[in-house]
Amino acid sequence: MKKDLLSINDLSRDEIYRVLDTAVAMREIGERPIKKVPTLRGKTVVNLFYEPSTRTRTSFEIAEKRLSADTLNIAVQASSVQKGETLADTAMNIEAMAPDMIVLRHQSSGACHLLSRICRSRIINAGDGMHEHPTQALLDAFTIRQHKQQIEGLKVAIVGDLLHSRVLRSNVLLLTKLGAEVWMSGPQTLVPRGLDQLGVRFSPTVDEAVEGADVVMMLRIQQERMQGAYFPSLREYYNVFGMTVERMRRAKPDVIVMHPGPMNRGVEIASDVADGPYSVILEQVANGVAVRMAVLYLLAGGVEDEAVA
Ligand code: CP
Repeated sequence: MKKDLLSINDLSRDEIYRVLDTAVAMREIGERPIKKVPTLRGKTVVNLFYEPSTRTRTSFEIAEKRLSADTLNIAVQASSVQKGETLADTAMNIEAMAPDMIVLRHQSSGACHLLSRICRSRIINAGDGMHEHPTQALLDAFTIRQHKQQIEGLKVAIVGDLLHSRVLRSNVLLLTKLGAEVWMSGPQTLVPRGLDQLGVRFSPTVDEAVEGADVVMMLRIQQERMQGAYFPSLREYYNVFGMTVERMRRAKPDVIVMHPGPMNRGVEIASDVADGPYSVILEQVANGVAVRMAVLYLLAGGVEDEAVA
């Protein structure tokens, strides 16, 4: 593994499989009465989140604690960031206290690349602007593999706000690297430039994208990143792109539906899909802990078959 995990592009196909296989062992730790191993004892991990997070921050903290790392959450709202301290200065001051890893979420694409250049600590990207969210893609792949055994040859339909989604970018890189056939659908106003160079297919019609799909991945409408009207109304969006039970019937009978969260119920996904038999959304959340344990462990220099001692 490279020093840092900034992008899915930092991982070869073999390294992706190593993370997924290690996460299987890590999940077993979470099923024990005592959910803790000494693997990262003596290592210090700082969670530095400039943007809100429920799933990613919590699962990183649980993962770090299960591996016995000393873990510290920087509350940005209560830090000197509020006095105007820059990201680089904040990072260098944290770095002066000699952590081993920094987990960064930031509203700017490329923020983790800046830290990677100036920090000795290993940097893990927990979501940078509209760029990438590599551990989300890894936990999504882990969840797909749990249900479908392999990713190669699957039809995966990704539907929603394609433009603003870092989850989309990391998933496209990972799924195409592992041989999935990736389809996308969403409003034309929310399609990123260069989509045709990513080796995916786009359909303006959700029904075509979902037809015969093994996996349907819904993306959140990111209103906080929108500065204009990208579609007439939320009701209209739901009518045209919202995932309903009726639309799901076009997919394979054993289709799974995923969503990285947080969900806008009744906008990109109907509640009876989100909570229904196709849904693996809460499994994704549970798998986030095991996958992040695997990432922390492997970045710290671990070897797959030593992970659970
Ligand atoms: N999926 C995800 O990144 O969720 P949070 O924003 O709650 O961390």
